[in-house]
Amino acid sequence: MIQTLKKWLVGYSEEDEQTEENETRIGELRKGPLPRHVAIIMDGNGRWAKKRGMPRVAGHRAGMKTVRHITRAADALGIEALTLYSFSTENWKRPQDEVNYLMGLPEEFLRTDVDELVERNIRVGMLGDRKKLPDHTLEAIDKFKEATKDNTGLRLNFALNYGSRSEIIRGVQRIIDDVQSGKLDKDALDESLFGQYLYTADLPEPDLMIRTSGEVRISNFMLWQLAYSELWFTDVQWPDFTKESFYEAIEDFQRRSRRYGAV
Ligand code: FPP
Repeated sequence: MIQTLKKWLVGYSEEDEQTEENETRIGELRKGPLPRHVAIIMDGNGRWAKKRGMPRVAGHRAGMKTVRHITRAADALGIEALTLYSFSTENWKRPQDEVNYLMGLPEEFLRTDVDELVERNIRVGMLGDRKKLPDHTLEAIDKFKEATKDNTGLRLNFALNYGSRSEIIRGVQRIIDDVQSGKLDKDALDESLFGQYLYTADLPEPDLMIRTSGEVRISNFMLWQLAYSELWFTDVQWPDFTKESFYEAIEDFQRRSRRYGAV
């Protein structure tokens, strides 16, 4: 009902068709082991736009649609968490108008998608340093969190002003504080406890990390959390990444044998 109203009011008409073929593919994928948590480096928006003679921000706009489609696909598969690298601590170096545009995306996404996310029982979260993010961006994120806080389905996390090394340093600083105040015994510190000091404390580690657009690197994304993740790279640029591309990544994941160092 809300979707129908939205289509009529704002021309929002991007519901993924639930074809029989799609349902069958989802059914097949659900028979295999599914990643609990998928993390994605959404790359290639700028190049996608340039190739079409459009400004870089047009690539980010198109990338937003992909966010919507992949969120729906992850939800339909029953994946627990989807984390999207949306703005890195290094992205402040981009031209100011591009930074401003990216900082406006959470508000736009809130306006267009919050009702659907609520309907789908999706819970929105943010990973990253709130300092430096403009108030209007934080307000949109906080409204998202508030509106979806009781939801128990897919956890959709935006990594915003996120950098893994600074996340680790922040964690170490908080550990030092806790040791100094007597809240934490230094000898009790192990890998699992260390994980509790990261932004991802209440999330499973990513089982699968996807990067689009042909770059084969991690770019300061979840360095600690990706220790045992399966990595999947594609030449497809993020605006062209479809639910079928996503299914392909999951199928590849299902063919891999995860040994965690054992034989
Ligand atoms: C990388 O492409 C992409 C980004 C830095 C931003 C991606 C953000 C979104 C798709 C939307 C996020 C949505 C919300 C609601 C926060 P690039 O610009 O580095 O591409 P290039 O390597 O081709 O230049």
